[in-house]
Amino acid sequence: MANTKVAIIGAGPAGMLLSQLLHVAGIDFVILERKSRDYVEGRVRAGVLEDTTVKLLERAGVADRMHREGLPHGGFALASEDGVTRIDMAALTGRSVMVYGQTEVTRDLIDACLARGGRVEFEAEDVALHDVDSETPSVTWRRDGVEHRLSCDFIAGCDGYHGVSRPSIPDDVLRTFERVYPFGWLGVLAEVPPCDHELVYSNHENGFALASMRSPTRSRYYLQVPLTDQVSEWSDERFWDELAVRLGPTIAPHIVRGPSFEKSIAPLRSFVAEPMRHGRLFLAGDAAHIVPPTGAKGLNLAASDVAMLADALIAFYGSGDASGIDGYSARALARVWKAERFSWWFTSLMHRFPETGAFGRKMQTAEIAYIRQSHAAQQSIAENYVGLPLD
Ligand code: APR
Ligand code: PHB
Repeated sequence: MANTKVAIIGAGPAGMLLSQLLHVAGIDFVILERKSRDYVEGRVRAGVLEDTTVKLLERAGVADRMHREGLPHGGFALASEDGVTRIDMAALTGRSVMVYGQTEVTRDLIDACLARGGRVEFEAEDVALHDVDSETPSVTWRRDGVEHRLSCDFIAGCDGYHGVSRPSIPDDVLRTFERVYPFGWLGVLAEVPPCDHELVYSNHENGFALASMRSPTRSRYYLQVPLTDQVSEWSDERFWDELAVRLGPTIAPHIVRGPSFEKSIAPLRSFVAEPMRHGRLFLAGDAAHIVPPTGAKGLNLAASDVAMLADALIAFYGSGDASGIDGYSARALARVWKAERFSWWFTSLMHRFPETGAFGRKMQTAEIAYIRQSHAAQQSIAENYVGLPLD
């Protein structure tokens, strides 16, 4: 008899949402997280939830604060030298998104887990997976120099891009696919009202810019910058000046400046690992795939992986039906690749790629002009942005 049914590696959104869905179904689990709770809850991450993710959080019973504090958005804008085009998701798809920081999602999930006595081993050192392709897998970790072991039926690798789960799949089994982008995003948080009531994505000669938000009083902004740039080279004044230029004459007058309290540069990559299952090990979230943040798909893909994995495990423990488990990787990857495509396409459309030259710039300008005039093109963007169906 195993010590627990599911060992979950990682207390990020994927691991915590899986734990909550398993709890609701009465399936025992233990979460192993290498960082402290404060560290996990302090990470600043994107904040656009597809309505599929909203419904999952409701199913998990952790949606109350999101509905109180989150901002429902029925559209977003594309800005370019030709002007500003609103993509009316609500009219084009009948659906919308919820702007609510990932940090808040993770906090709500951890609070719920601990409030009901869920077992989360924070600061678990040297987590290692054992016998994942056997019927008796186990995980070990160290704390204060003492090794601990946990036997389990299944392991959910929710430990992100740099975790130990993906490397636990043999090299002759694992296939990876990657595109690294030749620039980064300089992100800023400031306690100032957003410049618009919805998100604005801007394609400018100088580079990409994004105006987002965390609340009616807290703004989140991004600028495309060379990977060689340092945060220290970007004073608040330089950032605000460049943001105004890139957002353009319609949006810029509404920018409220103020001191930044978070400023960082992050690289962009597209990455997928196949398969997302090996023996008794399942990968979910960033452990299996990374998207450039342009399409705001990272958290939402983690949520859809977890929904599929939770349903598979619930069916297995409920009726012995293993079809969900056996079909998990193919089902999850089908949605992952479509989100990877949209995120790659949107990134390619909105950023400056000097290596593609004047012709590449003309292709971007022409595609944005086509989007501005085409209902079909706007509907395609809208249905990808609000989230494609789970199947
Ligand atoms: N042992 C235990 N825990 C680990 C290990 C390890 N060896 N390696 C990483 N972790 C933990 C990390 O500390 C982190 O808390 O796993 C968690 C992984 O969380 P995320 O990286 O947030 O990944 P995920 O839960 O899949 O959420 C994806 O997060 O990174 C963003 O943009 C991404 O929005 C997306 C979302
Ligand atoms: C954010 O608010 O951090 C955010 C929003 C939308 C994106 C990326 C990041 O596409």
